Amino acid sequence: MKSPSSSISIRKTSYSSYFLILFFIFFLVIIYSQDFLCILRQPPLEQEKDEFEQKVVEKAAETGCDLFSGEWVYDEDTRPQYEENECPYIQPQLTCQAHGRPDKGYQHWRWQPHGCSLPSFNATFMLEMLRGKRMMFIGDSLNRGQFVSMVCLLHRVIPENSKSFETIDSLTVFKAKNYNASIEFYWAPFLVESNSDDAVVHRITDRIVRAGSINKHAKHWKGVDIFVFNTYLWWMTGQKMKILRGSFGDEMKNNITLMETEDAYKLALRRVVRWLEKNLDPHQNRVFFATMSPTHESSEGWGGEKDGNCYKETTPIKDVNYWGSSSKKIMEVIKQVFKKSKVGISVLNITQLSEYRKDAHTSIHKKQWNPLTAEQIANPKSYADCTHWCLPGLQDTWNELLYTELFFPGQKQLK
Ligand SMILES: *[C@@H]1O[C@H](CO)[C@@H](O)[C@H](O)[C@H]1NC(C)=O
Ligand SMILES: *[C@@H]1O[C@H](CO)[C@@H](O)[C@H](O)[C@H]1NC(C)=O
Ligand SMILES: *[C@@H]1O[C@H](CO)[C@@H](O)[C@H](O)[C@H]1NC(C)=O
Ligand SMILES: *[C@@H]1O[C@H](CO)[C@@H](O)[C@H](O)[C@H]1NC(C)=O
Repeated sequence: MKSPSSSISIRKTSYSSYFLILFFIFFLVIIYSQDFLCILRQPPLEQEKDEFEQKVVEKAAETGCDLFSGEWVYDEDTRPQYEENECPYIQPQLTCQAHGRPDKGYQHWRWQPHGCSLPSFNATFMLEMLRGKRMMFIGDSLNRGQFVSMVCLLHRVIPENSKSFETIDSLTVFKAKNYNASIEFYWAPFLVESNSDDAVVHRITDRIVRAGSINKHAKHWKGVDIFVFNTYLWWMTGQKMKILRGSFGDEMKNNITLMETEDAYKLALRRVVRWLEKNLDPHQNRVFFATMSPTHESSEGWGGEKDGNCYKETTPIKDVNYWGSSSKKIMEVIKQVFKKSKVGISVLNITQLSEYRKDAHTSIHKKQWNPLTAEQIANPKSYADCTHWCLPGLQDTWNELLYTELFFPGQKQLK
C-alpha cells in the first residue's frame, strides 16, 4: 500500500516529462495542423453523416444547373439507346417504324441542359440500385409510355429467363428476378377515383371524378419504394369538371358538382399528397411527378401551315420560347400544391423540353383501334395522333432525367 506522500513525490518528479510531452504535442499540432483539421471536419456519427450528405445534396441542388432548361442536340452516335425491334414490350400504339414511319431522325435527339451534362444511363447500375425495390409509374397512357421506355432501357442487361412482364387489370409488372426488382405501371388517369378507371375499356366521354377518393387505387401502391406520377390530359375536357361528392352508385346522378378544371385538379393533387404524407417513410421512399405532356395539334403555333398538326413533322421546334397549348394554370397548381407538401416530391418538369418535339409523336404510324374510313385515308392528318410519342424517342429522355434526379443529384454541377 502506497502512502499519500510517496505518490505526491512521484508526480513531482514527472512534471518535467509532462511538460516535454505537451510541448511535443503542441509541436505536432503546428506541423500537421492541416491533417488535424481534416480529422476534425469529418462527421463522426451516422446521423451527422446523413445531415452532412443532405447538406451536400441541397447545396448541389442550389448551385446545380436546371436539368430541364437546355436544347436538343442531334446525335447519331449515342442515340437511340435501343432499337424499336429489340424491345418486345412496346405496345403497337407506339411502334412507329413497324407502322411505316419513313424517317428516323426523331430517335437521334439528345437533351443537353445548359450548364451541365446528363450522366449516361447505365442499366446495370440502375438495376443494382433497385435491388429488392419496387418502382411504380402511376397515371395515364403517357406515363405508361414512360414506363415502357424504362423497361426498354433496362431489360437488355437481364438474361431472358430471369425477367417477366405481366398485366392484370390496372397493374402491369415487369420483374428483373435476378435483382429482385420490379418496375410497374398502374393505370389511374386522374390518380383519384373516376369513371375512367377501367384499364381496357376506359370511358372517354362524360368523365366524372371522385376527387376526394384515392384508396381504391392507393391500396395497390403500398410497399412501393419509388413513385412516378403523372396526370393531365384527362382533365383537359374544355369544360368544367364533374366532381362526384358521394360514391359511384345510386347517388351519382344527384350529387355532382361542376368545378373549374384547375380547382378540381388541385383537389385531386392535394388528395394524392395527403395520402403520401400519411403513408410514406421519407427515408425509404422517393416521389416524382411528371408535368404536362404537351400535344401538337396546331402547326400555326410554330409557324407551319394553317390547318396542319404534327403529321409529317420531322424536326424539333427551334424557337426557344415556343409554348403550345399546355395549361400554365395547371403548372401553377402543381407548384402550389407541392410547395406545401410535407414529403419531398421531385418535379420532372418535362413540359418545355417536350414542347419543342413536334416531330416525336406517333402521328399516323401506329396500330389503329378502328378501321380507317375512306375519308380519313384521303386526309391522313385528320387521324394523326399528336399526343403519344414513338419509342425509342422522347420518353427515353424523360427517363434519363429521372435517372439523374434519382441517383446523381450532385452530378448536376459537372459540365
Ligand atoms: C455500369 O455500372 C456497373 C455497376 O455499377 C459498372 O460495373 C460498370 O462499369 C458501369 N458501366 C459503365 C459503362 O460505366
Ligand atoms: C425482394 O424484394 C421485396 C420488396 O420488393 C422484399 O420484400 C423481399 O424481401 C425481397 N426478397 C429477397 C429474397 O431479397
Ligand atoms: C352529397 O355529398 C355530400 C358531401 O359529401 C354528402 O354529405 C351527401 O350525403 C350527398 N348526398 C347524396 C344524396 O348522396
Ligand atoms: C417548369 O418549367 C417552366 C419553364 O419551362 C416553369 O415556368 C415552371 O414554373 C416549371 N414548373 C415547376 C412545377 O417547377
